[in-house]
Order: sequence, then C-alpha cells, then structure tokens
Amino acid sequence: MIDLVIFGATGDLAARKLFPALYELEAVRYLPEEVRILGVGRKPWSAEEFNQHLRDSLEEFQKPLDNEVVERLVKRAAYHPMDYTSEGFESLAKKSADSSIFYLSLPPDAFPVIGTGLGQAGLAEQSRGFRRLVVEKPFGEDLQSALSLQKTLTQFWDESQILRIDHFLGKEAVQNILVFRFANSWLEPLWNARHIAQVQITAAESIGIEGRGAFYDKVGAVRDMLQNHMMQLLTLSALEPPPRFEADLLSNEKVKVLRSVRPLNSEDIVRGQYQGYCEEAANPSSTTETFAAVRLYLDNWRWKGVPFYLRTGKALAKKNTTIALQFRDPPTQIFSDSSVEPGSGWVELELQPKEAMHLEVQVKTPGLQFASRPVILTTPTNNGDKLELSAYATLMLDALKGDRSLFIRFDEVEYAWRLIEPILHASQPTEVYSLGSDGPGGQHYLMQEHHRWRSL
Ligand code: BG6
Repeated sequence: MIDLVIFGATGDLAARKLFPALYELEAVRYLPEEVRILGVGRKPWSAEEFNQHLRDSLEEFQKPLDNEVVERLVKRAAYHPMDYTSEGFESLAKKSADSSIFYLSLPPDAFPVIGTGLGQAGLAEQSRGFRRLVVEKPFGEDLQSALSLQKTLTQFWDESQILRIDHFLGKEAVQNILVFRFANSWLEPLWNARHIAQVQITAAESIGIEGRGAFYDKVGAVRDMLQNHMMQLLTLSALEPPPRFEADLLSNEKVKVLRSVRPLNSEDIVRGQYQGYCEEAANPSSTTETFAAVRLYLDNWRWKGVPFYLRTGKALAKKNTTIALQFRDPPTQIFSDSSVEPGSGWVELELQPKEAMHLEVQVKTPGLQFASRPVILTTPTNNGDKLELSAYATLMLDALKGDRSLFIRFDEVEYAWRLIEPILHASQPTEVYSLGSDGPGGQHYLMQEHHRWRSL
C-alpha cells in the first residue's frame, strides 16, 4: 500500500486543487490501485464526515463530475484527526504504510513543525519503502527563513525526498517552453543576444486577491509570484540545453541562470497596488504591492546585454501569461527610402489563457510602394484533442512516481531568494493603478530606449 497523506485535508487548497487532481487521475485510472488517500486534519471528523467533505468539495470544484469516479475515490479515502504533537505523529506512524507521500497543504509556518514531527516519529525513514515530503510554496519568506526551513527539514529528510511544488511547472504550456526551444533546431541558433533585442515575461491576472487579504497583505506580488513562478519562467526561457531531460541536470541549468543575474537594486523594480486594494485587504495603510515589474540582465555568454522585463499583477486588463522575445533589427535597412518598418519581429509563447505560439513578422503592404505591415502567424500548441491533466494532477502523479523533474531543488529556491532579496527590502512607493488597466504607468521607466511593454 502507498499512503498519500494530505495534511490540511479539511482546508481550501485540498478542496479546490488536490481533490479535483486526484479525481482526474482516478477518472483515467492513473492512480495506482495500492494508493490510499489519508486525509489529516485537526478537526475531529469521522470517516463519514471526511468522505462527505470529499464529495462536497468535488461537487463544488470539479466539472464535469461522474459520481462513479467520486465513489471510487471515496473508497480509497480515510481520515486521521490529529494534533501536530509528538503523540499525534506517533498515532499517525502506527497507521502509516511503509511507502508514503506526505503532502503539506498547509500555511508555511506549519512546514517545520510537520517536517520535524514526521521525522521524529520515524516517518522519513525509508528502509521498507519510500517516504516523500511534498511542500507547497512559499518555501520561506526571504533568504534567511528559506535557509532555516531547509536546515530544519534536512535534519530528517534527504533532498531527494523533498518535492517542492511550483504548480506552474505542472502546466503543459510551461513544459512546452523546453520542447519549443530544444526540439526545433531552426530556433536555437536565434535564441541569444546576437539575435534577440529584449525579452518580456508577463503573468497578468484579471482577478484580485479574492478574499485572501490576510494572507496576501503579508506577501505581495514579489513573494507570491515573482520569486517563484516568474523565476521559473525566466530560467526555462534562458537556460542552456541540459544534456538530458533529467531532474538534476535541468536544475543545474536553472541555477546557472539565476546565478548569472546581475545584482538588482531598487531602480530595477516598479511596484503597484490596484485601486481599492486597501479596503479589500482591510488594511487602510497597506503598501503591499499587487503588481511588480522588474528589469534584469543575465551576465552570461548567451544573454549579455539583453534586458529581460518581467511583470506580474492582479486586477489587470486580462489574464495573460506570455513569454515574448523581440528580434533585433536587420543589419542594414534596404528599404530605408520607403515606409517599411525595421525589425519589430516578435516570437511569443502564450501560456495562458490559450496555449499558442505567435510569430509576428513584417510583410509587404499590397500596393505600388514598398511599405510593410506586421502580420501574426498564430498556431495553437494544444488543440484540445488529447488527454491533458491539470497542473496539480501532473505533479501528484510525478510525486507518486518519484520523478523530480517538475519540482524545485533547494538551490533554485535559494538563488531565487538571493537575487530577489535586495528588492524585497527596498523601501519604495507603491503606485496605485486602476482596476482592469495594464498596471501602473511607472513600469515604463524600466524600459530601455525604443523598448515598450507589449499591451496585455
Ligand atoms: C498562485 C498565487 O501561486 O498562483 C496566486 O499564490 C495566483 O496569487 C496563482 O493567483 C496563479 O496561478 P494560475 O495557475 O492561475 O496562473
């Protein structure tokens, strides 16, 4: 038997993401027969109460829903109420299978407590099976706390047992960045400072903080999105090809990117806050940013001198996650006497809401003159015609298989914090922006001459 132990099984993340992910896996029979789902929580629920919670959560968050699949999932489910004390962990140890995955679907302050409690109860021990610890983001709230959390966990857990989640990596479209880059030989020779003038990485959301004020106000966009999801998009866009698609080889390349970022300072970031945020967060004097834009440079052979512009924010014009690279102008402009626009070619990978690739090129404007106009070649990278698992389902399956390629190694977390640290503590005003806009006007000051943010 394999136990999938979900700490925080009565909470929000479990209901919204983890149970639907398990449902998806069960529906296509990807969940191995021997997997038992063991919900853990402090609520003194009975097995039946937990089962009902599982059913209700799926009813609310899983569409479409097949009741037969729900009941198959319920059959695998059990509940273990416990406090996070040594007695609690001992009682769990008595129940646990030799092979277990412990999923920490809990606020970050619980990570050290649970990691240690499990370890002390012998539940990190692998002599009769495997034991893995799945840790949600954020891993620390700054460099010091991340290092200290790592130190605590590694008293009992080996790095190879710790699976750090960044759900962006579970997305097909994000995995496609690597396939797009390294399965197309025409592209790779162009993907460098010689041919690329700028890179823009955007993760815009139209939703606000959606009632998460108490959490979000302590975090802000830099910790919530920039330090993790955006850094992953940056590393995947910029890394060198690893020799093979293997977890450690890939992490090595990602870390090299992070380590080549030129140290940031307060002039490299613009923060914004959407109108009405303070009331929503119930903190009238809050300066927490709901938008952050950053300009950075990678001092390495491939990218020397190319600005990478990153921006992320809430309550913006629309949901839009993209990676866009602009090509340099041609070396000479043979159409200089006409109105042909130089350069301006872009290649864009749209990750959300659609999964698509756009290639913006200049073509001749029909007519007697040699004038040009841009046309956009668009192709969906996912036609919706094959099985696609949600990010959480993919990651859950990989956790069961012990495949770490889509999880974050500690040094990725560490170097992401190291580079964010100087802007994390920079005291700087937050510019208010209107709901449904492209964010604060100040973001434009980050741009080099002739560069402009693409509209959302
Ligand atoms: C989460 C952040 O990690 O990612 C949220 O905490 C954000 O604030 C979410 O809304 C965005 O994820 P997705 O998959 O909707 O792009």
